[in-house]
Amino acid sequence: MSAALSDTATVNAARGARPAFDDIVHHDVVIVGSGVAGLTVALGCAPRSAALLTKAAKLGTGGSSVWAQGGVAAALGEDDSPELHAADTLAAGAGLCDPEVVGLLVREGCDRVRHLIELGALFDRDADGRLVLGREAAHGRHRILHANGDATGAELVRTLAEAVRRAPEVEIFEGAEALDLVVRDKRVVGVVALHGDGRRRLHQARAVVLATGGIGQLYERTTNPAENTGDGLAMAARAGALLVDLEMVQFHPTALAVPANGSQPATQMALITEALRGAGAILVDGTGTRFMVDHHPDAELAPRDVVARAIWRRLQDGDEVFLDARQAVGDDFPHRFPTVFDLCIQRGIDPRQQPIPVSPAAHYHMGGVAVGSRGRSSAAGLWACGEVASSGAHGANRLASNSLLEAMVFGARVAADLRRNLPPRWHGPLGLDTTPPVTEADRRRTAAMGAEIRRLLWEKVGLIRDDVGLLGALARLDQFAAVHPEISGEVANLLTVARLIAAAALHRRESRGSHWRSDYPHQDPAWRRRLFLRLDASDVACFEPAPGESTAQTRVAPPLRALG
Ligand code: SIN
Repeated sequence: MSAALSDTATVNAARGARPAFDDIVHHDVVIVGSGVAGLTVALGCAPRSAALLTKAAKLGTGGSSVWAQGGVAAALGEDDSPELHAADTLAAGAGLCDPEVVGLLVREGCDRVRHLIELGALFDRDADGRLVLGREAAHGRHRILHANGDATGAELVRTLAEAVRRAPEVEIFEGAEALDLVVRDKRVVGVVALHGDGRRRLHQARAVVLATGGIGQLYERTTNPAENTGDGLAMAARAGALLVDLEMVQFHPTALAVPANGSQPATQMALITEALRGAGAILVDGTGTRFMVDHHPDAELAPRDVVARAIWRRLQDGDEVFLDARQAVGDDFPHRFPTVFDLCIQRGIDPRQQPIPVSPAAHYHMGGVAVGSRGRSSAAGLWACGEVASSGAHGANRLASNSLLEAMVFGARVAADLRRNLPPRWHGPLGLDTTPPVTEADRRRTAAMGAEIRRLLWEKVGLIRDDVGLLGALARLDQFAAVHPEISGEVANLLTVARLIAAAALHRRESRGSHWRSDYPHQDPAWRRRLFLRLDASDVACFEPAPGESTAQTRVAPPLRALG
């Protein structure tokens, strides 16, 4: 358990400014984020004492995991094997996966699923009690486990959150927004978080784990919840950690293109799970014509980026696109896909009788904090797992239903490393930084800036990119940063991450996986390498060779063994 508040609150003489933190608590490990990755770390850390910080008001309700409809991929079928699962994962990753990391994912993934079942997770089973294995795009076998039809993430989070609540070593801090990492002597020694009572608390720890999820809220259209503003990535960048593959943003082909209550576009769009296409639903244009057959031999089950771009082009041309499940699913809809059914009905669409209007939306970030197979980042004292991390498991394009799996496998690997290799406690000075006051005018200005960043990224750093658009977006983002150096909080994080993603997208002059450049429409073998970068002291993206390499050009998808 954390020690009781012991250190004196810091005193700050600057007029109007607040101390960077009001009090200090100590833990062995502090975990930021409470999706499947964060919960898995918290559960696996014992006997270490762990603090679990979640922005959500209640554990188990925040983050992307709880929204995941499509399930968990695991090679559990009789005709399947981890090798076949690895082959599909590597093919989707378009040359940027680390084969060793993929091997860990698919092998250890089966054990993690069994462990979750032991913990009480209820996956869907047939009348004989056998696990039902579904099929999704680019999977060569039926290997997707679901729970309650299309509520898999919620079931995983429920199971893990209940277990975490029972774990005596874990202290849960709900409604706690991590503001920044504390770095002393080139080592991450804690996290400052804003708590529901208005206090800024420094959670000092021997190890900090980022499990903060993705960056979907950088885009005007996203399936991610409001809290996915890239906070963890921005904090890691400011702490000097090495980042990788930031240009690789996956767009889900089918988000529901009708806002809730017919109001303004929602910041989070409802997902229409890919499992529907797996079940035979087809994509049609405004005239009712099926079009994916003209784009790819696998039609609706083509890789996600291919389907998303085909839909995007039609929408750009002023057409509409619908997912038609009337024939394939029909009256079984409420029973087989209860979550999607409810979301459609809430928006006035009955998918048994009507095709569902869809649009692509930012869904998953393959890039992130560069980590090795134990989740260690390049910054001492800092680990990362789940979507905020980039281990090399997904390459340039994540295979459907591999993300919950990755969160479980690498969350468990981080926990194992922390049980064995926890760094000693930091005893040096923590400093007395101050932060300026935030006024109402600041809040209004940053909200407007956030909306413009989202629009800019969607239009210029989205599904189809080119030099002109990317340069324009970067110039505008740089202007924001120059004019408003004082901004802080979520919008500052959005801005930091937006600039890094746009810079990486400009740098990679080829098309690969989810990164599509209309001015470089082909895959270039010379670019079959991961793109490493760091935020330098003047807040600019600085591209680097892979860890342990002298030049960025020499290796193909280099493994991050140097990070551990
Ligand atoms: C979906 O259900 O379509 C999403 C699954 C995933 O992103 O892995």
